[in-house]
Amino acid sequence: MSTIYDVKAEVAADTLLDKAGYEAMYRDSVADNEGFWKKQAAIVDWIKPFSKVKDVSFAREDLHIRWYYDGTLNACYNCVDRHLATKADDVAIIWEGDDPQRDLKITYRELHKRVCRFANVLKKLGAKKGDRITLYMPMIPEAAVAMLACARIGAVHSVVFGGFSPDALAGRIHDCESNIVITADEGLRGAKKIPLKASVDAAAAHESVTTLEKVLVVRNTGADIEWDAGRDHWLHEMEAEVDDDCPCEEMSAEDPLFILYTSGSTGKPKGVLHTTGGYLVYAALTHKYVFDYKPGDVYWCTADVGWVTGHSYIVYGPLANGAITLMFEGVPNYPSASRFWEVCDKHQVNICYTAPTAIRALMREGDAPVKKTSRASLRLLGSVGEPINPEAWEWYYHVVGDERCPIVDTWWQTETGGILISPLPGATALKPGSATRPLFGIQPAIVDSEGVELEGAAEGNLVISDSWPGQMRTVYGDHQRFVDTYFATFPGRYFTGDGARRDKDGDYWITGRVDDVLNVSGHRMGTAEVESALVAHPQVAEAAVVGYPHDIKGQGIYAYVTLMDGVASSDDLRSELVKWVRKEIGPIAAPDLIQWAPSLPKTRSGKIMRRILRKVAEDEFGNLGDTSTLADPGVVQDLIDNRMNRS
Ligand code: WT7
Repeated sequence: MSTIYDVKAEVAADTLLDKAGYEAMYRDSVADNEGFWKKQAAIVDWIKPFSKVKDVSFAREDLHIRWYYDGTLNACYNCVDRHLATKADDVAIIWEGDDPQRDLKITYRELHKRVCRFANVLKKLGAKKGDRITLYMPMIPEAAVAMLACARIGAVHSVVFGGFSPDALAGRIHDCESNIVITADEGLRGAKKIPLKASVDAAAAHESVTTLEKVLVVRNTGADIEWDAGRDHWLHEMEAEVDDDCPCEEMSAEDPLFILYTSGSTGKPKGVLHTTGGYLVYAALTHKYVFDYKPGDVYWCTADVGWVTGHSYIVYGPLANGAITLMFEGVPNYPSASRFWEVCDKHQVNICYTAPTAIRALMREGDAPVKKTSRASLRLLGSVGEPINPEAWEWYYHVVGDERCPIVDTWWQTETGGILISPLPGATALKPGSATRPLFGIQPAIVDSEGVELEGAAEGNLVISDSWPGQMRTVYGDHQRFVDTYFATFPGRYFTGDGARRDKDGDYWITGRVDDVLNVSGHRMGTAEVESALVAHPQVAEAAVVGYPHDIKGQGIYAYVTLMDGVASSDDLRSELVKWVRKEIGPIAAPDLIQWAPSLPKTRSGKIMRRILRKVAEDEFGNLGDTSTLADPGVVQDLIDNRMNRS
């Protein structure tokens, strides 16, 4: 049994939760779910108040999820305009550049002006309510401004992580039929330049991209870029021609706010669709409670806005709460391994929310780079993206937090819109490696492979039994895929794709994905996607991809590749395949290890036996389980003899 830490946090005056307070509020939230969410919806300002709270069915034949559906509001108004009366001159965004010499503070008044001008530029480019606008941006304030400007005019943003390849970007533009792309000349990360505009040009040249009309470009590094005079527009030139005033579009609670593509176990990435009212209520409420946010706190989430963490916990949640949100352009180890903690000291950060992969990478550099900084401003630490191993948790707690700061290990997904399982600081006893308890209104359950709910201490598949306002509403353009992916495996419940254990105290421990989805440095990657990238190479006949434990990334990508007849394997071909996958998807999908496999282990019906491939990749082939259904048992010995990951 691991240590339990009971860390007393200063508790915010308006949340006032201790252990008993959490338990009572949780009980009420489940006993009267509609009543609870009706009351909590007051965290946002409504234009037309709702009278209907919840209309949900998880039944496969009649799947629908609606919250607050006769109310109207505007998300941008809630994140910006409504704060002008009381905190116009307070800082909304602190921006810290990749270069430690560069930073910027933006007040709510300035944010309002920038968002209005940006929104007017979008209108001038022809943007209308309901249009899908793709953002392919570096971590600069304009990324947040662009998201809010879309929300202001009722356009639906689809942010594509700047590390994705032109092909991946093209696929996403095509899927949601985007008419406008917003980008920058270049991005900057760890002093390396990222040619964003050039990637947009390459994506736009893709034959599948037929809807794109305009590209709006932010001048960031000032690099020379190619220019298409009919299509491309500089933001700074257009901004000079528009005014500071732009009204907010009145949106129905169930109008789409954004699409965010995420990988699944099959096929191409899914466009996860979130709507306006429920999402904003959920992002704001969870930001307030989980991070115990008090006015004036400096809050820093180190994620990129290209992921859902950046949407909910850099932009929408904090800004809806009128918070000071820090946005960081750089990486944890540039110019040195002290950077994160130097940023904390420089901006007097109180709350720091980061990922286990960053913690492990910094832990490897030892305690000295941490200990040379003060970190006295820190009050609370957070973790997200993958299970945090107890060793990294302890280091974060003892070395970074000086045993003073509670750690909130927050479990959630792109699909959930916000945090579902997490300790509440001061209210929940902490166990290194456990995400602990469900938040208000969240009803997790553990079911076995037959769908039978397990009671008490148990391990199995993690499902959620009832809806919450931040839940995704559909897969953009493919509702059937939404139904089949999340509601078919365990009828009547939302299936998370994760495994979990519940201990005798009722705390949850997420054990990782139970489907063919990898978690590489906290980024989700479908094995099927990497496989189809590999087989698209002319010399590859077949490929199978699995994960294996990786010290820093959590999971590494292990690919078994069968070459076309007559093609000789070589180290050159290996590096070419890695480059190929980087080009097809992006650097995060690049295989760490490639094993040449003359053939793959298959059942007599031709199904690849991934269980065996996983065991070999984990270097645990002593225990391969039942191999009696293999069509050709001889294949396995060759895989073992030539395995790449030997401890
Ligand atoms: C998957 C979702 C949630 C925002 C970032 C990732 C894993 C996430 C935790 C955690 C254990 C976690 C799960 C989940 N995951 N947070 N605290 N403990 N696992 O969003 O890309 O949609 O990935 O990340 O496996 O299903 P995402």
